[in-house]
Amino acid sequence: MITEQHPPKIYYFDHAATSWPKPPEVIEAMQLALESAGGNAGRGGHQLAKAASSVIYDARETVADFFGCDDPFRVAFASNITESVNLVMQGLLKPGDHVLVTPMEHNAVMRPLTALQKRGVTWEVLPCFEDGSVDLYAAKKKIRKETRLMVICHESNVNGVIQPVRSLGELAREAGILMLVDTAQSAGHMPINIETDLIDFLAFTGHKGLMGPTGTGGVVFGSRVPIDEISPLIYGGTGSYSESIEQPLFLPDRFESGTQNCAGLAGLSAGIHWVKDHNRDGRMQATQNQMMSVFIGLLKQIPNLSLYTAANLHMQGDVLSITIAEVDNGLAAEWLDSDCGIMVRTGLHCAPMAHRTLGTFPSGTIRLSISPLTTIEEIETCVAAVNTFATDPAVVLKAWDNRV
Ligand code: ALA
Repeated sequence: MITEQHPPKIYYFDHAATSWPKPPEVIEAMQLALESAGGNAGRGGHQLAKAASSVIYDARETVADFFGCDDPFRVAFASNITESVNLVMQGLLKPGDHVLVTPMEHNAVMRPLTALQKRGVTWEVLPCFEDGSVDLYAAKKKIRKETRLMVICHESNVNGVIQPVRSLGELAREAGILMLVDTAQSAGHMPINIETDLIDFLAFTGHKGLMGPTGTGGVVFGSRVPIDEISPLIYGGTGSYSESIEQPLFLPDRFESGTQNCAGLAGLSAGIHWVKDHNRDGRMQATQNQMMSVFIGLLKQIPNLSLYTAANLHMQGDVLSITIAEVDNGLAAEWLDSDCGIMVRTGLHCAPMAHRTLGTFPSGTIRLSISPLTTIEEIETCVAAVNTFATDPAVVLKAWDNRV
């Protein structure tokens, strides 16, 4: 049971884990779906079932439109992005296939890939620069005749480095291979278009930059994907062709078995509309970029602090990492939370390979991430607290010890 707590003020810097708070429109849309569209989509001809189908179709259209896909049926929903990347990799890859990945991949990609290795799939890491951004020139040389797929973590969940997706897409097209882009951190934070960015599989999650609830996500399939070569990850009832015990072959039913998350998808749709409304002419993204630039500038002035970001500010997303000399990350985070109300994530962020790339394995980092709602005052408060801690951690911890 969740108990209500009212700390003086929360400074939430963990949007990379999940965005918070959700816009009121998202909560209202979810409540309305539960109240007025409470049937099971595609599983009945009555009004409540039809209302649920319509909510889900609306979410499908919203997602397709947001990512520049002209066919809503090329959107398959999943319960999170881990399931989405599993759907693509486990469905597509066969023994003998070779896969290229960036050095900043999350375990959502690396664990299924390691499991697929036991089934005869091989993989290699694309060469990169110090901040984990792929070296395009060297990457080209890594493509072999067995290479089937390139997997790109669009924005790192550790240092926020953004990969040059379009250039990698050009490389993939020239070589005749497919490209899967994990947009967990980037969707909602920067424009992504499946067609012009030359993406084949666009895996997304609803609960971060798209401002929707957890339990939502999916894959948008690009127009050149050979759908009939991809096996479903999960088989089961779809509400269609119920006379057959075989899985329907068409989209999206091929990949969407079982009851869908209607209220969650209503929230996702409302979240995307919220992002679109707030980001007219790219103004929300421009503000966020400015905020990151201020954040980085201020953190750079703090003694004893190492900063992990993209080398080039133009390739920086809304996530960064820090470490403080001689200080345990977990202890610093605990102090920030309990003494200052500042919430961050520490450790390896389910991305051990990224930390090996940045030289922060195994202790990891303290990760700070912002959202469109983060204010400059919140950034200044966070930086001031980190500065107090980093300047003299022993004194801060002693004073803290005496109080607790
Ligand atoms: N992958 C999410 C994170 O980076 C949960 O925190």
